[in-house]
Amino acid sequence: MQRENFGSQFGAIMAMTGSAVGLGNLWRFPYMVGVYGGAAFVLVYVIVVFLLCLPILNSEMIAGRRSQTNAFGAFKVLAPGTKWKWVGALMIFTPLVVLSYYSVIGGWSLEYLYKSVCFDFTSVAHTRQELDSIFGNFISSVWTPLIWHTVFLGVTALIVVLGVKKGIETFGKIMMPLLFLLVILIAVRAATLPGAGEGFAYLFKPDFSRITPAVCAAALGQGFFSLSVGFGIMLTYASYMNRKDSIGKSSVLIAVSDTMFALIASCAIMPAVFAFGLSPEAGPSLLFEVLPFIFSQMPLGGVVAILFFVALLVAALTSSVSILEVGVAYLVEEKHLSRKFAALIIFLGTWLVGILCSLSFGPLSDMRIFGDILFDFLDRFTSNILMTLGALLIVIFVGWKMNRDDVRNEFTNGGTLKGSGKLFGPMYLVIRYLAPIAILVIMFSNIFAS
Ligand code: TRP
Repeated sequence: MQRENFGSQFGAIMAMTGSAVGLGNLWRFPYMVGVYGGAAFVLVYVIVVFLLCLPILNSEMIAGRRSQTNAFGAFKVLAPGTKWKWVGALMIFTPLVVLSYYSVIGGWSLEYLYKSVCFDFTSVAHTRQELDSIFGNFISSVWTPLIWHTVFLGVTALIVVLGVKKGIETFGKIMMPLLFLLVILIAVRAATLPGAGEGFAYLFKPDFSRITPAVCAAALGQGFFSLSVGFGIMLTYASYMNRKDSIGKSSVLIAVSDTMFALIASCAIMPAVFAFGLSPEAGPSLLFEVLPFIFSQMPLGGVVAILFFVALLVAALTSSVSILEVGVAYLVEEKHLSRKFAALIIFLGTWLVGILCSLSFGPLSDMRIFGDILFDFLDRFTSNILMTLGALLIVIFVGWKMNRDDVRNEFTNGGTLKGSGKLFGPMYLVIRYLAPIAILVIMFSNIFAS
């Protein structure tokens, strides 16, 4: 079967950046910063992304382009007849769990877009208590979040089925820069609020005593989540990459833009949190509680709100489409199902789990797993355990199982890329030794410390 390829290196980078930049940057990163103690987390995060996640991203891309197939097939092609194919299975399972709760947050964004279109945040001045209870009542109610969850997941599945992925990616090329500008604009407004300085200190003045195993594990998990590594997504995308493109250069561009988004988003959120006297430790609700305040304090805030939520949704969709695509590529290429049927099966599975996640903020909030509601449990379980495990297995695979010359050839395009050639040595050391050891240390110290 002829596989489709990306037209250009730029196209490939944009699609992978589209997968990477999403709710993970705008919604998850700022709230993780708040929960894990501010600047200490930010510092550990940046180190972890460039030291560990980037080489892991490279490993995934190397395995993907080398094998020219999906996450499950890749291990069968590269290590035929071995148990490695079960790693491929893990790579397909993890993103599907993520998708089930990702679409709940996607649904929250839809509700907030709807509220912005009605100028709910800006037409009347709301007090803090009112805004709190608007959000609290919304997520703990039964039907509205479920309807939006269904819409978000349905649109994701439709994009995949109709094969308009290219369309959404083209759209993404326009919306991502817009989102970037809007986040900067919001950050500028937030920075000029009285009391914003405290927020910046919270973000950039680390209290080193707060760096604990839990913070490291959370930063690592967030790095995987945000870069979409540790499961087959980047692997699948890289399999569509052209042989002439540079894996090293593409991955650096992806990591840099993804990190910039996350940092600027926090510069928009945290100063406002302090200026408005909110708690940075609010958790998953942080973004949605803080933004309405900023919009209400901005000239043309109502319009900025609409633009922002549209752009956020496009960013979320380019990510959710990539998550769904992993499962669909697997069912189509390995199980020979039609795209439609594959997407339908995955839609139904993730939709049902997503319903439980959504209800765990309301009627099912008493159902606790290790003390967490279902949503938090799945979020923590996937990023701290499944993705970490997936990333660990990928680096072990590329560092120890694949032939070193093959890895080198894939990374340097057969020795033609001089820059990548120089970088290969140190990167290979990280993939072979540092990354697996660091991941294991972080995983175990976290388990034993908690
Ligand atoms: N990286 C995306 C974000 O930051 C989310 C994402 C895309 C993702 N694909 C994934 C998360 C696979 C986990 C698994 O929003």
